[in-house]
Amino acid sequence: MSTPGPQSRKREALRKRTVSIIGTGSYVPEKILSNAELEKMVETSDEWIVSRTGIRERRIAAPEQATSDLAAHAARAAMENAGITAEEVDLIIVATVTPDMFFPSTSCFVQQKIGATHAACFDVSAACAGFLYALEIAQQFITSHTYDTILVIGAEKLSSIVDWTDRNTCVLFGDGAGAAVLRHRGGSHGVVSTYMASDGALADILYIPGGGSRHPITGENADQRLNCIKMNGKETYKHAVTSMLDAANRALAEANLDASDLACIIPHQANLRISGAIADRMEVPMERFMVNLDRFGNTSAAAVAIALDEANRTGRMKEGDYILLIVFGGGLTWASSVIQW
Ligand code: ACO
Repeated sequence: MSTPGPQSRKREALRKRTVSIIGTGSYVPEKILSNAELEKMVETSDEWIVSRTGIRERRIAAPEQATSDLAAHAARAAMENAGITAEEVDLIIVATVTPDMFFPSTSCFVQQKIGATHAACFDVSAACAGFLYALEIAQQFITSHTYDTILVIGAEKLSSIVDWTDRNTCVLFGDGAGAAVLRHRGGSHGVVSTYMASDGALADILYIPGGGSRHPITGENADQRLNCIKMNGKETYKHAVTSMLDAANRALAEANLDASDLACIIPHQANLRISGAIADRMEVPMERFMVNLDRFGNTSAAAVAIALDEANRTGRMKEGDYILLIVFGGGLTWASSVIQW
């Protein structure tokens, strides 16, 4: 018997990755904040926001809603879509930069809300890349046969960490949650390949400086809004395009696929121009890109999860189609994943 070459060994490895997304769900708060309303809050215009970002409106959670409330709504929708009960969930992973509080983890609050009494729970902090980081962690737990059924959630109440006096950032963000149920099953909806990367040297182009152990919150630094998002937009934009493109190419290469094999691409919903630049360089028509940032803005870890659910429910993918998820965020962190639907 001849020894298998590297390519066939790779294909063999991919065949063993039989982790399926068996259901998706999402939730966005009812309250809409339009560009016209933002014009009354800061020196901006609908024309500027739409032409620079593509965003027309975003959703804002009610004061009494915490991130776990949004997450629980999305989780219930995903479990219903998957046809499972909360008791079947072995692990809950919530990706978020807006936890309900430092501890307990937001996933523990979600567990209590949905009644997933048998689940272990923890959160992942990877900013806008969090949902794909969590998806890969879940896939590793399932592939190692540690757990069978995992609920992965990206959820954010970004309105709680936005400086509503800073026009450079406040026009970009919104609140929402998306969820997926993963299970060890062969067949369709398989996670084929994932690539994750980080660059901590670029931490200060997109971050929240205050509120942690470096600068515990005080009256003085709260006045300076150190507990709010700070972003160097231009630098972030530049790295977003190159990193997301690189991640996309690596996940495609690992899956032995070309961009032309993809039925749908779901990028992080930060800026329509970023998606346009990636589409150009991948030579994929923009129609194949999932876009919902016009309605929801950038919801960080929730963005790709909400878009995946929307793509699923609106029939954007049919069974067997390959889709590509690409994310980018503070850290810097970025990731991509090829999924066979
Ligand atoms: N309304 C009107 N004018 C504005 C606004 C606004 N809301 N915001 C900024 N401006 C002004 C600036 O002050 C600047 O004016 P100046 O030239 O007089 O100084 C001018 O518009 C141009 O600003 P730029 O920063 O050059 O605008 P740019 O075209 O780069 O767009 C944007 C800014 C939209 C933020 C873009 O850089 C971007 O999308 N960056 C990437 C964001 C991103 O990808 N984030 C992902 C991760 S998010 C996370 O992890 C939480």
